[in-house]
Amino acid sequence: MSSQITVLVTGGAGYIGSHTAKALARAGYRVVVYDNLSRGHRWAVRWGPLEEGELLDTEHLRKVMVAERVGAVLHFAALIEVGESMKTPETFFRNNVSGSLSLLNAMRDAGVRRIVFSSTCALYGFPEKVPIAEDTPTAPLSPYGESKLMVERLLHWEGICHGLQWMALRYFNAAGADADGESGESHSPETHLIPSLLAAALGRRPACPIFGGDYPTPDGTCIRDYIHVTDLADAHVLALRHLQEGNPSTVLNLGTGDGFSVNQILAAAERIIGKPIPISRQGRRPGDPPRLVAAPQKAFEQLNWKPAHSSIENIIETAWKWSSHAHSPAASLSV
Ligand code: UFG
Repeated sequence: MSSQITVLVTGGAGYIGSHTAKALARAGYRVVVYDNLSRGHRWAVRWGPLEEGELLDTEHLRKVMVAERVGAVLHFAALIEVGESMKTPETFFRNNVSGSLSLLNAMRDAGVRRIVFSSTCALYGFPEKVPIAEDTPTAPLSPYGESKLMVERLLHWEGICHGLQWMALRYFNAAGADADGESGESHSPETHLIPSLLAAALGRRPACPIFGGDYPTPDGTCIRDYIHVTDLADAHVLALRHLQEGNPSTVLNLGTGDGFSVNQILAAAERIIGKPIPISRQGRRPGDPPRLVAAPQKAFEQLNWKPAHSSIENIIETAWKWSSHAHSPAASLSV
């Protein structure tokens, strides 16, 4: 089977999309990025041409798919910030849900029948049982998580009614940066723990807030499953191959199965960079579940995938190297 098909990567100018574009190119796929650059970056598009456009522009999408002879879609384009989604849910449903529906319509019109979708562990809410397997009941706590769940349902029905082949990959905490320094995390504003700690270490912000010390966890801070963005990227390539081989559509968790507390991440970061990081201990951030750790065995088995870059040391080292880069959030934060 030849892998020389063209893959349309929506959101390919973003954090996980750009790393995946690189992994696809390395695996022999031709990449075309589709992005409106509202959150993504032109500099992050390095592994194929950029087509600037809106997800809601179905006709533009269809034309690009036909002109570029697109054989599959990897769909990352979305608004991702949980807090923002609580303030403007309508924007999230329009962009993430209506945008995905538009994409699916364009795919049907253009005869493109395979998609890998960027989903999230946010759709599990506050799970009763940890580690979290894919059959855990979904109960999103934010319009962001709900919007991702709604897209999974769109995929399900598009599969049943029109024969779409799909994979929804539910990420746990994406972190780290490309080992060659070619891409990395650059959100504005940056709300994620590791880049925020590194920005504080670089003096780009006065201190990193540490949210909550009274959770029911061994050290009182929240536990998360941090997965290196390069491992996520590799899993997408394997998921696409899996579909190309004719395997059934499904949802898969992408995580390591190991949890680290906020305090453990702070200690590891201080050890790796060799100096104390200014922090300010604060109350709980609303909506943070105490413990989110994946049961990733289904992805291990079905994709023959194992995280290879996700030690906490490698995650922090690559993020640290990236954080001094011109495009990194640490370089652009003014506070
Ligand atoms: N945290 C801090 N200080 C910060 C930032 C985060 O203490 O400056 C803490 C949070 O309270 C949380 C942990 O660090 O306990 C991780 O927070 P992140 O913001 O880095 O990541 P989240 O776990 O909140 O978010 C991730 C994904 C989201 C997804 C969510 C599901 O990035 O896309 O999991 O809960 F929606």
